[in-house]
Amino acid sequence: MKLGVPRERATGENRVGLVPETVARLARLGFEVLVETGAGREYNPDSAYEEAGARVLQAREEVYGESDAVIKVLRPSPEEAEMMHDGQLLVCFLNGPMYPELVARLAAKGVTVFSLEAIPRISRAQSMDALSSMSSIAGYKSVLLGANALGKYLPMMTTAAGTTRASKVLVLGAGVAGLQAIATAGRLGAEVTGFDVRPEVKEQVESLGARFLEPEREEPEEEEEPYEEYEPKGLARIMVALGFNSFAEPPEEREKNGRKTSAEAESMKRTGGYATLQPEEKQRQDRELIRRELRTTDLVITTAQIPGRRAPILITREMAEEMAPGSVIVDLAAESGGNCELTEAGKTVEHRLVKIMGPVNVPGMMPIHASQLYSRNMENVLKHLAPEGELSLDFEDEITASACIAHAGKIRHEPTREALERGRG
Ligand code: NAI
Repeated sequence: MKLGVPRERATGENRVGLVPETVARLARLGFEVLVETGAGREYNPDSAYEEAGARVLQAREEVYGESDAVIKVLRPSPEEAEMMHDGQLLVCFLNGPMYPELVARLAAKGVTVFSLEAIPRISRAQSMDALSSMSSIAGYKSVLLGANALGKYLPMMTTAAGTTRASKVLVLGAGVAGLQAIATAGRLGAEVTGFDVRPEVKEQVESLGARFLEPEREEPEEEEEPYEEYEPKGLARIMVALGFNSFAEPPEEREKNGRKTSAEAESMKRTGGYATLQPEEKQRQDRELIRRELRTTDLVITTAQIPGRRAPILITREMAEEMAPGSVIVDLAAESGGNCELTEAGKTVEHRLVKIMGPVNVPGMMPIHASQLYSRNMENVLKHLAPEGELSLDFEDEITASACIAHAGKIRHEPTREALERGRG
């Protein structure tokens, strides 16, 4: 099987589909690799690909024309899509529901499209999950971007001129990018708090040394412990033995138990959290929680996403306006609409002395490691799709069935088909 690696041409895209290290391994497995000159930028020169066993071609038309599978990072441009041919495999981040016409065009040409966003996040697919590899990079880098824009140290600093306190970092959304941002900010010495709508991630956030943002719980012990179970101890026990029966009463008296608890607190006691509250009520509660936290936060990293939908707004204009001057928000969800109302994708805006950064293609800012990890993911994808060195698609397999969004002239991915129908309306 011939693998083609064209040079990525999108602005700011410095990653490459396969790096020489992976090419060498694939060559040993019997794959032939064709690389467009300059595809690896200055980090992975043509000579390194040649040493790894690849053939370097001057024209991208040759790469597209000769290969059986094209390994790209980003979706092909319309021009590149035209260079593809019947029976060819394309592996890249394509985001079918956002670019349904492109998928339709590729399907019509008989191209088999394996879209990396559509790989299910199951343990068997972890080694192929390029989205997670890239999100992890984005989480790490977002803290560096934010720290760079912040006029403060992240760690506490003790100097001859006195001590400065550690900056407070709040990470909203504790998935792949969020957890990496929490870990990175912690390593840099910040005081970190994490938040997510999934209460089960609390443990993960705390295991990284951060605090999990949640409503303060009313301590249930006093209310739950039945009066009868109170056992006087020590001096109280002696006093009871001596006939001073008032010492048999618990120190906190019943009026506390008689105190009316709100429906919210009742629910929290029952569920150990607030997950079962009505969604609107929970949203209001979350927003209030975040609003209060933001007032004392220096750097916010937002990573909340709901797959296939616009990113939820977690920071409204008013909430940002209540933040201290000089604070920074790094909104990783900028490309899917942003978690902050003021975010503009690809820009840094300053609103009342608060900087709101909406970086796009953050992994592209760290091309060496991003390409290396992406390339290892690609190696595993190829071993999955072509275990004997030839394309062999098993649609009974969950990974192939989910991620193969076009095959044999048809769009197989329901959300992409729906988006196409809506668009053609
Ligand atoms: P993920 O799906 O692993 O994590 C998202 C988290 O957000 C989940 O834990 C989810 O429970 C949480 N969430 C959903 N709604 C929420 C709400 N209302 N409040 C709080 N948390 C909420 O996603 P991953 O891979 O970590 O990506 C995070 C974001 O970063 C995505 O928007 C993704 O597109 C973006 N991203 C951006 C890059 C860039 O270059 N700008 C690069 C890579 C990822």
